[in-house]
Amino acid sequence: MDDNSPESVIGGKSFTAVAINCAAKAGEWIKSKSGSFSQLNLKYSQHDLVTEVDKGCERLIRNLIGTHFPHHSFLGEEGVEPGPEASAKALEEASDAEYLWIVDPIDGTTNYVHGFPFYSVSIALARRGQVIVGVIYDPSRDELFVAERGKGAYVHGRKMQVSGETALSQSLIATGFPADHLEALPQNLQGVQELAPKVRNLRVAGSAALHLAYVAAGRLSGFWEIGLNAWDIAAGSLLVEESGGRITDTRGEPYHLGVRNVAASNGQIHGEFVGALKTH
Ligand code: IPD
Ligand code: CA
Ligand code: CA
Repeated sequence: MDDNSPESVIGGKSFTAVAINCAAKAGEWIKSKSGSFSQLNLKYSQHDLVTEVDKGCERLIRNLIGTHFPHHSFLGEEGVEPGPEASAKALEEASDAEYLWIVDPIDGTTNYVHGFPFYSVSIALARRGQVIVGVIYDPSRDELFVAERGKGAYVHGRKMQVSGETALSQSLIATGFPADHLEALPQNLQGVQELAPKVRNLRVAGSAALHLAYVAAGRLSGFWEIGLNAWDIAAGSLLVEESGGRITDTRGEPYHLGVRNVAASNGQIHGEFVGALKTH
């Protein structure tokens, strides 16, 4: 993407600058509210939490983006009814958009609620279905991960590079335990059973977006999860690609915004990784 093209600069602000500004402002606000939220509600299941901070944060991001790019479309987790069917429908409805912002205001709400400092703000911009900007912000560590298609990925100005492991046996792999305990969780647990004996170790820290950012930064060799949504993955997908890694679905098919079962890695272990997940 050419940052100086008229498409990417409106009113003097590039897409990436707006995404960074939104993530930083939202993250600061979330952190300031940590431990003092007042409404805790359940969404899809008793494992799917939402607070007024998730909703307020999404409003803040939506308003900021709308100010700069009023003709762009917006897909945010809190604007969609809970559950996989509603998510798929919302994505389908937005699929014609030339520019679509895809936002998870707090990825890792369970951690946020418990004061476990591993949650993030995830903001992606897709052009005709292809992610061109991805920003993930971790307010607890003040770490900002930024990627632009074709321009690399950076954490606090340092170019990121995926890790160098060449085999699962040397790999540190993360996953998540999805809120859908009927279909997604049992499938994910099969993956855990398959992979745990094969890898150096597994981690389940509770923010899919931040796990993807960690794959990009070379802190994890890979990440997979069953039953995620576009807003959990979109920004992280570009971070991984622009850091030299690979992202596909868990069968090894190319990533697109509709992928819910995702596998991301440093690329070198991808065949072995996806091969092990495919066993089930
Ligand atoms: C959740 C987190 C978690 C993952 C869940 C997601 P949320 O997102 O990414 O790590 O295991 O599947 O739903 O609900 O905190 O935005
Ligand atoms: Ca999420
Ligand atoms: Ca969320």
